[in-house]
Parts: sequence; C-alpha cells; structure tokens
Amino acid sequence: MERTRRLRTSNYMRDMVRENHVRIDELIYPIFVTEGENIKHPVESMPGIYQYSLDRLSEEINRIKEAGIKAILIFGIPDHKDEVGSGAYAEDGIVPKAIRQIKKEYEELLIIADVCLCEYTSHGHCGLVKDGVILNDETLPLLAKASVSYAKAGADIIAPSDMMDLRVKAIREALDEAGFVYTPIMSYSAKFASGYYGPFRDAAHSAPGFGDRKTYQMDPANGQEALREIGEDIEEGADLIIAKPALAYMDIMKEASMKYNIPIVAYNVSGEYAMVKAAAANGWIDEKKIVMENMVGLKRAGAKMIITYHALDVAKWLKEEE
Ligand code: PBG
Ligand code: ZN
Repeated sequence: MERTRRLRTSNYMRDMVRENHVRIDELIYPIFVTEGENIKHPVESMPGIYQYSLDRLSEEINRIKEAGIKAILIFGIPDHKDEVGSGAYAEDGIVPKAIRQIKKEYEELLIIADVCLCEYTSHGHCGLVKDGVILNDETLPLLAKASVSYAKAGADIIAPSDMMDLRVKAIREALDEAGFVYTPIMSYSAKFASGYYGPFRDAAHSAPGFGDRKTYQMDPANGQEALREIGEDIEEGADLIIAKPALAYMDIMKEASMKYNIPIVAYNVSGEYAMVKAAAANGWIDEKKIVMENMVGLKRAGAKMIITYHALDVAKWLKEEE
C-alpha cells in the first residue's frame, strides 16, 4: 500500500528526500547606482533597497560580501537623459565607473551588467523612438556599444533587457570583435509587459514617458511565444536565459528547462518583492517562510539561478540553517 507520509516522519527523513535546494551560489542580487554624492536613497516601494552614489557604494558591497553573495546585477541611474540614451554607452557613464570601483573592492564578485536604454532616454523607452514608434534595428548598435563599454570596464556577464529583436546576435558580434569572446550573454528572453515592474521604475527612474512597452515586451497571455523567443536567443548566441517576472510565469521556466539545455534564470521582480514586504510589514504573513517557499518553488519550476531583491535575507537565512 502506498503511504507517502512514510517519507515525512522526521526532519532527517525529509532532509534526505528533499528534491530541490536553494543555494547562495545561485542567487543574484540587483543593485542601483546613481550619479551624485553622499546618496543612500531608499526606494519607497521596496523596503530595504536603496540607490547608492559611488562614494557610498562600498557600504552595500560590504553587506554583499558579508552575506556571501557571489553575483550582482547592476543598474545605473544617470544624471542626464537624452533622446538617444547616450549615458548608457558612455565609457565614463555611471555603470562602467561603478563596475571599475566594485572590481577593486570585491574582485571575485560576478558583475552582471543590465543593458538597456530606458534609464538613459528622456522618453523612458528601451529603444530609439521615431514618430512614437520604438525602433528595433536602429537601437541594436547602441545596445552593442553599451555592452562593449561594460565589458571593458570589467563586467563578467552582459544582460540585455530591452527586448529588441536580434540584439543578442548584435551584442555577441560586438563583444567578439572587441576581444570579449569569453564574456557570456544572459538574455532577458522571455520578458513580459508586466505590472510587476512598477516599483523598479521608481527605483531606476525608467517609466516610459508615453505609451507602454507592449510593442516590444511580451503579452502575459503567451507561453508558446515565450519558447520561441528563448529559442531565437539561444540561436543568436545567448549563454543564459532569463524569464521574468517569476511567480506568475513558472510554467515558462518549467517548459523552457525541459525543452532547452541551457541554464534558466528566474527574475523575481520588484513588484513581487514589494507585495511580500508589504504583507510582512502588516504581520499578515511570515516573511522568511513565504520568501523561502517562493525561492524553492522557482527551483522546482526549473530555474537554475534566481535574481532577487531578497538575496541578502535569503543568504542570511540559509547560513542560519547550516
Ligand atoms: C529595464 C529593466 C526593467 C526591469 C529590469 N530591467 C524594467 C522594465 O522593463 O520596465 C524590471 C526589474 C524589476 O521589476 O525588478 N528594461
Ligand atoms: Zn528598458
């Protein structure tokens, strides 16, 4: 007679048969660096998350080091925006400067550089705009230029989040040409046009000034299309694939992890973080239990790595359990 409870009778028994684990090595922590001085500015909708200017950044890097976190995803907030997002690819832009500084302070830390124009454009869109249309092919050289400038500064991985078609190919070619043959591309392949990015857009000052992102980010209703996007990015040379948001899109990770032999990264986004933090602050949920359940759920769904604003807390909780 099948009695599945036999394998749940004690802690050791449950530990032994556990199928999935959350590991510090697989966590990626997003950080926001801003131009200016003496800034540690709290992001209101994301308790515990701050924008740092370079002179205060070592505070954050020390916290990351102490937590044992091994990878960060870096976003820049420039002091100047223009039509063509020139701050994104300037060699002395905020991101290259931050990368060079972090490499001095914590050499082994893997620095993943988000590549997009929306933080740097006056219109807030992820590509060049003409007559209200977000241009695809005209945007590609700028993304490629930004990628090379981040690689030159010392970025370990390039992560394009713009959702233009064919950008992985353009970035791969540019990196190779500049001699960065061994710099991997972590592509935001299945990125949905989501309400869950709301808090991030406050944090990165990157809300679109007109319209929305639905002509380039994916329709939340489409799963087949997500697999097509992923397949295309792999063909163009992506080394790692991001699916985002995470919790409402676990089916994408499951299917992609079964279909493709490539590491899948779940991006547990700002709105997902904000919801957990808000409910926890009200005492309505147990934050640690909920976060760890979300994390292991993503592993079970097929994610290899997890990008999450909870990373420092998760790392702390994992250490306590050791
Ligand atoms: C920039 C970018 C966004 C996120 C990551 N890179 C915002 C967007 O596309 O509007 C979202 C991350 C989050 O919500 O945590 N293209
Ligand atoms: Zn963008």
